Amino acid sequence: MTSMMQVELGDRSYPIYMGAGNLDNPELLTKHIKSKQVVVVTNETIAPLYLDRVTKHLQGYQLETIILADGEQFKTLDTLNIIFNALLEKKFSRNATLIALGGGVIGDLSGFAAACYQRGIPFIQIPTTLLSQVDSSVGGKTGVNHALGKNMLGAFYQPQSVIIDVDVLATLDDRQLAAGVAEVIKYGLIRDAKFFSWIEKNIEKIMARDQSALTYIIEQSCQNKAEIVAADERESGIRAILNLGHTFGHAIETGMGYGKYLHGEAVAIGTCQAAELSYELGWLSQKDVARIKALFQQAGLPITAPTSLSAETFLQLMAVDKKNVDGDIRLILLNKIGEATLPIAVEKRKLLKVLNG
Ligand code: NAD
Ligand code: GLY
Repeated sequence: MTSMMQVELGDRSYPIYMGAGNLDNPELLTKHIKSKQVVVVTNETIAPLYLDRVTKHLQGYQLETIILADGEQFKTLDTLNIIFNALLEKKFSRNATLIALGGGVIGDLSGFAAACYQRGIPFIQIPTTLLSQVDSSVGGKTGVNHALGKNMLGAFYQPQSVIIDVDVLATLDDRQLAAGVAEVIKYGLIRDAKFFSWIEKNIEKIMARDQSALTYIIEQSCQNKAEIVAADERESGIRAILNLGHTFGHAIETGMGYGKYLHGEAVAIGTCQAAELSYELGWLSQKDVARIKALFQQAGLPITAPTSLSAETFLQLMAVDKKNVDGDIRLILLNKIGEATLPIAVEKRKLLKVLNG
């Protein structure tokens, strides 16, 4: 069964379709394609698993497929150029539709390519990891990494629709599933204490891939994300809370080399650091911090930062973050479980205490 929710953004509103078997429903896909030219962008891991299932619905179109190398280290301007070259060689016009079939790397890269190509072509997200189904495919943040900073080049560019098929999670490995759960826990922490408690009670079912538990966390996460994005599409305020743990996490991803830590793993560690800092500031109790760490651990996620990253290196990496103002590091912290702060600058001494472990 397919359920649908709308991301309300005026004339840029779009549906998120959620359910099992959605990849085999041609109608969900073709009703959002208004062009003859269609390009599907995916990677070498996903192509053998799911590309035919998508392209079989597109036989009447001028269809191109672009199969990229797999990995966070390929989320770069160079890879973007592979997409532009293919579109230009095939003389794709400004009304062509781009379909992003993959996880957050493919979604962010392809969305940015769609935003740039001839100043913007329509695109559709078919997210295939838990992380991309609960977070990255919704909300229109697109972009690539720079050697000096994660997601430093990009655009806000909304898709025409998001098609989520929970069945594709069957081929995702356990480590990737856990990485997605990190972003699910985030929604509970930043604005939904009831959801956080639900995840605590059902974490074993989630990790065992119980289908109704997975469907529930995808729906709740998309609902939370859609509400935040509708309230603040371009992150001038409340949307920043979606970055809980991300300033620390992005520093880990960049500092350790893209791909060493999965994004969700780095976010799990960063969220524990944000929780510790919230304790240092007197907002969270030690019991709350322990509760948060226990949940990440039960999901099989790391909770401590790599020892090879010194506090000084951390600080330098955190100085390259989109929430910073006039060069000052600003962080999302927790007032309590279920309530995040807006970005705030904190005393360097307290930040260093957390970074020193
Ligand atoms: P990913 O895209 O690298 O996918 C993880 C791995 O799983 C890859 O090897 C991929 O090929 C493989 N894979 C994908 N679907 C599969 C399937 N169904 N079966 C088997 N293997 C499959 O990683 P991710 O965790 O999906 O995304 C992380 C990226 O998302 C990061 O670059 C992060 O910055 C970005 N992100 C963006 C936003 C946003 O709002 N735009 C939000 C969160 C994260
Ligand atoms: N993942 C952060 C955001 O979408 O704003």
